[in-house]
Parts: sequence; C-alpha cells; structure tokens
Amino acid sequence: WFFVCLMVETLFFMQVVAENMLGDKKVTVVFVLGGPGSGKGTQCSNIVEHFGFTHLSAGDLLRAEIKSGSENGTMIENMIKEGKIVPSEVTIKLLQQAMIKNENDKFLIDGFPRNEENRAAFENVTKISPAFVLFFNCSEEEMERRLLGRNEGRVDDNIETIRKRFKVFVESSLPVIEYYDAKDKVKKIDAAKPIPEVFEDVKAIFAPYAKVIV
Ligand code: ADP
Ligand code: C5P
Ligand code: MG
Repeated sequence: WFFVCLMVETLFFMQVVAENMLGDKKVTVVFVLGGPGSGKGTQCSNIVEHFGFTHLSAGDLLRAEIKSGSENGTMIENMIKEGKIVPSEVTIKLLQQAMIKNENDKFLIDGFPRNEENRAAFENVTKISPAFVLFFNCSEEEMERRLLGRNEGRVDDNIETIRKRFKVFVESSLPVIEYYDAKDKVKKIDAAKPIPEVFEDVKAIFAPYAKVIV
C-alpha cells in the first residue's frame, strides 16, 4: 500500500508541476517574432510544410474573431486600426483554444508575445515556455516597402498605422525579445534577404525538428 500511495502521489505531483502540458499532451512551442512585414507569416508557411508544425498567427486569430461577430469584435478592430496591442486575456484565450482543438503537439506562435503583458500572462496562464524564439530582423525601410505592397486589404497596412506599429514594436515588442535573449533563447535571422535565402537560415535552425520518416 505504501508504494502504491507513493506512486500515486508522485504521478500527481508530476502532473501538477509539469510544464508545457496542454491537457494531457506535451507541446513544443516556438514564438515567431519580428517587426510588422519582416516575413513571419511567409516563413511560417514554409516551416509548416517542411517540419510539421501548426502555424498560429495571433493577428490572424484576432481578425477571425472580428469576422465571427464576437462581442469583442469592435474593440479588437479599433485596436488593430490603431496598431495597439489587444489585452492578453483575449489573445491568449484564442491561442489556447486553437492549440487544444488541434491534434498536433508542435506550434509556431506568430506575432505573440507582443509586449511584456502578453509574455507574463501567457506564462502564468498556460505554464508553457517556448523551446526558442525565432526573431526576424529587418530594417523599417524594407518592412514599410513590404507592408505597402502586401495587398491583402488589411485596415492597418496604410502608412499612418504602419508608423504606429513600428513605434509599438520598438517600445513594447523589442523588450520581449531582449528578455528571451538574456535567457539565450533567441535565434536571430537576417530577414532582409530574399524569401528562399531567409528560409535556408530558418531550415538550419529547425533541422532538429525534422519530420522523422519511419
Ligand atoms: P509579417 O507576417 O511578418 O507581417 P508577411 O509574411 O505577411 O510579414 O510578409 C509581408 C509582405 O512581404 C508579404 O507581401 C510577403 O509576400 C512579403 N515578403 C515576405 N518575406 C519577404 C522577403 N524576404 N523579401 C521580400 N518580400 C517578402
Ligand atoms: O501580427 P499581425 O501583423 O497580423 O498583427 C496585426 C495587429 O493585430 C497588431 O498590430 C495588433 O493590433 C494586433 N495584435 C495584438 N496582439 C498580438 C498580435 C497582434 O494586439 N499578440
Ligand atoms: Mg503576419
């Protein structure tokens, strides 16, 4: 009996302190960060194809939430138009739901965490910490050119909002990258190069996560 109890207790303890658990699955999360227009979404599609991750873009989830007619829709839309960061509880709930719904255990979380509040709240709520942070480094001049040429009909791809988004990136998002850099978790990529060249560098980083062919 003693050993049975010990076992049960140990298992219970492991469950409680277990990190990176989502329900009963252990997940690998990579945060994909970089300024607006640095190419996060573009490269995430490539990573999905080659390395079997599921791509969750925080911005895409927020835009889908607006379209769904949610009660938060108007608030989210106004924040996006202004380039402001939506309160964490909204974004984290969307990310959590998307991860639970998906059978995969490897996720690229793109465009999140965008500020210190995003980062701390995600850590506290989910107990998930990223395997690493992929950081796409690109000049504002190049990012501006890309955003103005994106043509996806986005309400925030206009020069006025772009300037605001750059300011938010420098003031609120770069400190998050510095936080992870101090933990040696940042893998920085030169994102100013052409798409295939950027992906060569990305591939080298994801090699340990290559799909195993049995
Ligand atoms: P993000 O998700 O970081 O905002 P996107 O992946 O949506 O950026 O890319 C923004 C725009 O720039 C898109 O039109 C995309 O096709 C283009 N783009 C992405 N990467 C590059 C690159 N390396 N060189 C030139 N254009 C790029
Ligand atoms: O990443 P993306 O460019 O799609 O984000 C568009 C906008 O969505 C941001 O400028 C911001 O207003 C909102 N957003 C947010 N919180 C995040 C990610 C995006 O508020 N974590
Ligand atoms: Mg994007």
